[in-house]
Amino acid sequence: MGEYHISVLLQEAVDALGVQVGKNYIDGTLGGGGHTGEILRRGGRVLGVDFDEDALEYVRKQLTINNSQLTLARGNFKDIDALAKENGFENVVGILLDIGVSSHHFDTAERGFSFQKEGPLDMRMDQTLNVKAADLINILTKGEMYELFTKLGEEWGSRPIIESIISARQIKPIETTGELAQIISKVAPRSKSESNPATRIFQALRIAVNDELNSLREVLPKAVALLAPGGRLAVISFHSLEDRIVKHAFKDFESEGLGKIITKKPIIPTEQEVVHNKRARSAKLRIFEKL
Ligand SMILES: C[S@@+](CC[C@H](N)C(=O)[O-])C[C@H]1O[C@@H](n2cnc3c(N)ncnc32)[C@H](O)[C@@H]1O
Repeated sequence: MGEYHISVLLQEAVDALGVQVGKNYIDGTLGGGGHTGEILRRGGRVLGVDFDEDALEYVRKQLTINNSQLTLARGNFKDIDALAKENGFENVVGILLDIGVSSHHFDTAERGFSFQKEGPLDMRMDQTLNVKAADLINILTKGEMYELFTKLGEEWGSRPIIESIISARQIKPIETTGELAQIISKVAPRSKSESNPATRIFQALRIAVNDELNSLREVLPKAVALLAPGGRLAVISFHSLEDRIVKHAFKDFESEGLGKIITKKPIIPTEQEVVHNKRARSAKLRIFEKL
């Protein structure tokens, strides 16, 4: 399934679920179907959920093995309880969440996720959402932008970038990834030692457009509630904002007596995996087992 997305921590995450033949699993972030395909290969039944129609369409075309064991559903994983019910997946023994964007999002210029690819400033993973990144960049106040870039992009030096955005949009609305990337690079040139500030500004916008952190906060307790006793929740995150949410939620679940944390420290990709797939470098897998 490589062309859509290279799965990260594929074996580790599916091993964590301890797949049993004929049992029910939910993959809340279907993407290119890499993890789903592996669960199916090991004999599990899967409900594959994604809120991006492209992912569902891709998997519908690609997955040929054990098709009778796979149900696909479009939706936000924050509604995992309702999605499971609607699709008859209530006795679930494993849930996987591989958070964030897929390579398909970055690689497809028209989706507007990459500052290196000219396209509309969109960034909606769920194409039915109303607000695009361009809407935010053209209406947010200085203060709102500062809060956004600091909290969700962890970009501490955004003031000159914001001034430059404000001046540019007084002349005409900022509509493309290229326009925004250029505005950023003019005032915040990339130094050799630092990563590109455009990475952090684009990350902040993407997280806000898709309300990513709130969806994650909402899904975790629902996922644990949905699991059968002994069932496992495996979450792969890609930056500290997400990992912190997962880590604290798991600690809370443990102290409430809901189960135990299997990964005292997160599982990270091997060097070999990172060499093969640069995007894996920041991945962290945490596993919780329901009592
Ligand atoms: C990292 S990719 C998953 C890749 C997949 N595990 C694979 O191996 O191919 C994340 C996917 O989750 C989807 N996604 C992100 N947040 C979501 C949410 N809140 N609800 C449903 N799908 C979501 C994205 O559209 C994307 O396709």
